[in-house]
Amino acid sequence: TDIEKGTYPHFMLKEIDEQPFVIRKIIQEYQNENDEIKLDPEIRQAMKDCDRIYIIAAGTSYHAGLLGKQFIEKLANIPVEVHVASEFSYNMPLLSEKPLFVYISQSGETADSRSVLVQTKELGHPALTVTNVPGSTLSREADYTMHLHAGPEIAVASTKAYTAQMAVLAILAVDTARAKDIELDFDPMQELAIVATAMEALTDQKEKLEDLASEYLSTTRNCFFIGRGIDYYVGLEGSLKLKEISYIQAEGFAGGELKHGTIALIEDGTPVIALATQENVNYSIRGNVQEVEARGANSMIISMEGLNKDGDAFVIPQVHDLMTPLVSVIPLQLISYYAALHRDCDVDKPRNLAKSVTVE
Ligand code: G6P
Repeated sequence: TDIEKGTYPHFMLKEIDEQPFVIRKIIQEYQNENDEIKLDPEIRQAMKDCDRIYIIAAGTSYHAGLLGKQFIEKLANIPVEVHVASEFSYNMPLLSEKPLFVYISQSGETADSRSVLVQTKELGHPALTVTNVPGSTLSREADYTMHLHAGPEIAVASTKAYTAQMAVLAILAVDTARAKDIELDFDPMQELAIVATAMEALTDQKEKLEDLASEYLSTTRNCFFIGRGIDYYVGLEGSLKLKEISYIQAEGFAGGELKHGTIALIEDGTPVIALATQENVNYSIRGNVQEVEARGANSMIISMEGLNKDGDAFVIPQVHDLMTPLVSVIPLQLISYYAALHRDCDVDKPRNLAKSVTVE
């Protein structure tokens, strides 16, 4: 490949560090000279015309879709369903009258997503692809494309594409809200600029995150991620990162669901990483941490400034509560990276995985 690692030991670390620049690039690309959102008017119309959005994706892109649903429902007031591409045809949902399909794919080549696109095109439904590769199969075959502008992502474990996907979906949600005359107290470009600065503050704290990785994850067999609401979805992505590159068996759970079974797996020393970035669940997620600690867990709380308490392992800077996923995922990416490094894993090319999976 023509892309170089430069001074970085791995593409993954380089791509983690690129995230603030990618966010700033997205702000630039999606803004016109009047500081308005720059978007293909046909996409705006398609968003206005639909009565329900079906997001289709795989892997990390699916996790970005779960957060895209939050943005679109909360800001643009359109119901959204998020589906794992490979499952869609077996569980074809009852479609609304005017569905819009949104395909999220870093590569634009994922076969599972493409097969759903072929199906929904046959049914005559409009499709928007959100991808890092305009001109890719999913981009060419959909009606509309939104570009992630993340630059080539080489490491198999996706990092900057995930945060770019969320940024672009947040912009899309706000654009739609404005097109529908919904009053919002949320300027996406301003909030994303704050995110970029927060990201920078985090990528500067690698030593601390490396220490946490070695303390919690250098010998463990498994690890749990817990969160409530938005934090839960970020935990799913955190657990996927850790599994992919360190081969630690990791699972993300909703804080309140733990006690319904999974808590049986907590033993002396089991690492539990809890996210606490949302005011409305700050009390309850901390209660869940106490529950697992009482069973011997080695817990680590990653909280947001303003909601943090003494003893939290790591605190992220304050950002808008809808934007926390773009920031809270950074320590999770870095902890996974260092855990894999300490366990002598091939960070950029983990076993059994491919960057883009072109078979169903
Ligand atoms: C593969 C990669 C994952 C990625 C998924 C979806 O499994 O290993 O990192 O999230 O495909 O890829 P896409 O290109 O569609 O986002």
